[in-house]
Amino acid sequence: MTTTAPTRPDGTGPTPADVVAEAARRRTFAVISHPDAGKSTLTEALALHARVIGQAGAVHGKAGRRGTVSDWMDMEKARGISITSAALQFSYRDTVVNLLDTPGHADFSEDTYRVLTAVDAAVMLVDAAKGLETQTMKLFAVCRHRGIPVVTVVNKWDRPGRDALALMDEVAERTGLTPTPLTWPVGIAGDFRGVLDRRDGGYRRYTRTAGGATVAPEELLSPAEAAAREPDAWARACEEADLLAATSGEHDQDLFLSGVTTPVLFASAISNFGVGALLDVLVDLAPAPAGRPDTDGTPRPVDAPFSAFVFKVQSGMDAAHRDRLAYIRICSGVFERGMVVTHGPTGRPFATKYAQHVFGRERESIDVAYPGDVVGLVNASALHVGDTLYAGRPVAFPPLTTFAPEHFAVVRSLETAKHKQFRRGIEQLESEGVVQVLRSDRRGEQAPVFAVVGPMQFEVATHRMEHEFHAPVRLEPLPYTLAMRTDEASVAGITATTGTEVVQRSDGELLALFTTKWVMGVVRNGKPGLTLEPLVAAQLG
Ligand code: G4P
Repeated sequence: MTTTAPTRPDGTGPTPADVVAEAARRRTFAVISHPDAGKSTLTEALALHARVIGQAGAVHGKAGRRGTVSDWMDMEKARGISITSAALQFSYRDTVVNLLDTPGHADFSEDTYRVLTAVDAAVMLVDAAKGLETQTMKLFAVCRHRGIPVVTVVNKWDRPGRDALALMDEVAERTGLTPTPLTWPVGIAGDFRGVLDRRDGGYRRYTRTAGGATVAPEELLSPAEAAAREPDAWARACEEADLLAATSGEHDQDLFLSGVTTPVLFASAISNFGVGALLDVLVDLAPAPAGRPDTDGTPRPVDAPFSAFVFKVQSGMDAAHRDRLAYIRICSGVFERGMVVTHGPTGRPFATKYAQHVFGRERESIDVAYPGDVVGLVNASALHVGDTLYAGRPVAFPPLTTFAPEHFAVVRSLETAKHKQFRRGIEQLESEGVVQVLRSDRRGEQAPVFAVVGPMQFEVATHRMEHEFHAPVRLEPLPYTLAMRTDEASVAGITATTGTEVVQRSDGELLALFTTKWVMGVVRNGKPGLTLEPLVAAQLG
């Protein structure tokens, strides 16, 4: 979608009132799910409904599908997966929707988590047959930590799956959120006829289209018509809806926004069933961008001068140009291409000459953007993950959370003469957040430890060390699986037990590493006074 700058008769730019109005019609969200739950399919279906693209299948590039594969690395191409993430923007009703993509591979990384620092809401996509799976729970833990409201979508209802009420119990038990279904399926999983809309009691009857390639027509029927059309399925849906009224309660906007409840929808992304309802829920219920709190906790209002933060940096997308893209989420004010802003950490000016909407391989120049929007800045070598950019009154947003790594490996240079390239490469990968780098006196400067959330980050790092920084490396995996925050006073007490090590992350944090949870338990129980605190996210799940 091309967004053009509003022109005013007097030639001035948008006023603060314009910015408030533009922010109010933005919805910025991400889909959290376990691989194969249908995230790519849902993304395509949403885009189809919003009429950004004419036909499903053009957004994501999974192997065998047509589309815009973000194949910036050979390994990505070879596997037909998307390692990188960006944003898709489309308009629906009078709203501008920003859907931030998360890497679709099973082996997800910190990138996936970081996307959640840039959204205002999340859609938790659940496979009707599988329920809440591990990665969904890990990502949900980040949403809970950040207080992001979550809409739950039970997908693949066209296929045999679990009982709808049992799924609601699972959502309640595992997330702690009270599910408040907005729609309820008519027909059991595998026999999806439509949904009972609990808000008005009516029946939305779905009609299948060939291959789900076009928007599925919906028929709105009254309860009496529904009872005549589908006597058994409708009666069962009504009975279950009555049960729900007694147990789950109704949607309450304040409770949803404060993370107490989760509205639930039933869908079949592949048949485009329930997708329009999801867009309506996002527009009607999901929050618009609000002022982001600065390091002192004071929100910078959306109509304050421009501010944004970098939530993702991506290098090497185009081997010929070695470009480096920094994705910013706009927090306040107007972004206009070409404007010169201040780079918070250095205080230096940063020119935004090349600004783009990016999704997969498709890039489009962007002229103007508002709070909630995502912009890709090209040739942004000065920008690092977590950096603040601003115009006018200075602001600093808190640094982005680093997440609990679960995989660790010692990095060794294969060509000792290249120690400069080795050091530079490691610094660069760390500044982009590709890996966390841990050091200790014991291991020395020549043998830092890479720590990652998903092992694919190791592959990306190794590949880039060799091809981009010309410093080939070998990784030697370490047996640790768990990292906890600790302090100087606890080091001796921790390392007295085998299967442990204490290392320092570059932000100064001391991390205690354990081979297993059990070893950590032994250490903690043996010496109760030790400082051992969970890092965010991975352990919460
Ligand atoms: P992901 O991005 O979450 O990993 O999931 P993706 O959309 O790729 O979907 C995973 C598989 O589930 C795909 O099948 C997809 O067609 C299927 N799927 C997605 N939504 C639905 C749905 O609502 N109903 C049914 N029945 N299937 C659904 P695949 O065979 O692995 O791939 P493909 O060959 O169909 O692309």
